[in-house]
Amino acid sequence: MVKFMNIIKLNENFISEIDNLLKENNINILKNRIKEIKYKLTNSEEFFKNGVYEVSREWLIKNITHAEKSKSVERVKHYLKKIIKGLTEIKTTGINEINLNRWEEYTEIITDSLWIIDRRDNSGVHKAWYHGNFIPQIPRQMMLRYTKKYDLVVDTFLGSGTTLIECRRLGRHGIGIELNKEVAEKAKELINKEANPYNVITEVVVGDSREIDFEEILKKFGFKSCQLLIMHPPYHDIIKFSDDERDLSNAKTVKDFLKMFEEVVDNTYNILDDGRFLVLVIGDKYSNGAWIPLGFYCMDAVLKRGYKLKSIVVKNFEETKGKRNQKELWRYRALVGGFYVFKHEYIFIFQKVEK
Ligand SMILES: C[S@@+](CC[C@H](N)C(=O)[O-])C[C@H]1O[C@@H](n2cnc3c(N)ncnc32)[C@H](O)[C@@H]1O
Repeated sequence: MVKFMNIIKLNENFISEIDNLLKENNINILKNRIKEIKYKLTNSEEFFKNGVYEVSREWLIKNITHAEKSKSVERVKHYLKKIIKGLTEIKTTGINEINLNRWEEYTEIITDSLWIIDRRDNSGVHKAWYHGNFIPQIPRQMMLRYTKKYDLVVDTFLGSGTTLIECRRLGRHGIGIELNKEVAEKAKELINKEANPYNVITEVVVGDSREIDFEEILKKFGFKSCQLLIMHPPYHDIIKFSDDERDLSNAKTVKDFLKMFEEVVDNTYNILDDGRFLVLVIGDKYSNGAWIPLGFYCMDAVLKRGYKLKSIVVKNFEETKGKRNQKELWRYRALVGGFYVFKHEYIFIFQKVEK
């Protein structure tokens, strides 16, 4: 379920105990019995033997405490009913596994559009070896919001394989395309070192996302379509990833870069299910004293291709050691040149419009 949650499993005894309480109309009796239930939850095994109803301890205790402290019988019953519903019914949007009856439990999931993340997740095989990678929290958050277990995620610019490592952790199938063979090999090696508890497919394919036959690749691994597209292209020529002219970082002009990016968006359009999501992670650049809004140019390109915009997330760049040393220099340059120092990139979230 969700990271860092203390998950417990309750049994039928617990449900029937709460059900019985709902028949009681004396507030003092109600409160005393709730106190007893709370006591049993922490001091006995009674509600846990052969437990099947999964719930986080925090959520349960919070709602029982609300019930206990409520001043009217109606309010007490409101919380008791909420507990029963949260335990026995699942309400989702259909595109993820978030049980909306227990939405307060999902504290890991970010819902604000400004992300200040100071630390990358460096756990397990996630290493920051690849210059130009994204922090694992990005694909993780996107998969938690926009996919279910065993959905297929396609990353068109795989790089070091961050997305596929997260796929293994979250139980999503993943296929990643990477142009650079050596990078793809190294990514593959790392991905295979990550445990695969859900036994999902995580495949790395070497190729050019502008023209590779996605339908054929999906078919090869047993899929007809995907449920999430993740695109983290080069931010034009900010980092040169290779000498390959098919590499978007080698586009001669911004116009050429955009054309190449558009080709990738077009080439993936048919494999994404209607109503599903495309996530674009990109930053802007400077050229000849002008801010080039690559992010908005790319956003516009996607919007012209059958997608609607769901959100723009602005995320800080975390400070690497190297950048910290250059901070003073950039501040000076900014003051001289009349510009602001880049501190953010974008996560654009689009939904494929149903035809
Ligand atoms: C910004 S990086 C992606 C980093 C990745 N998200 C990670 O965490 O490692 C962009 C990647 O796109 C690759 N690339 C560039 N042009 C490509 C193309 N036409 N098809 C597929 N991959 C390409 C580059 O080699 C580079 O590894």
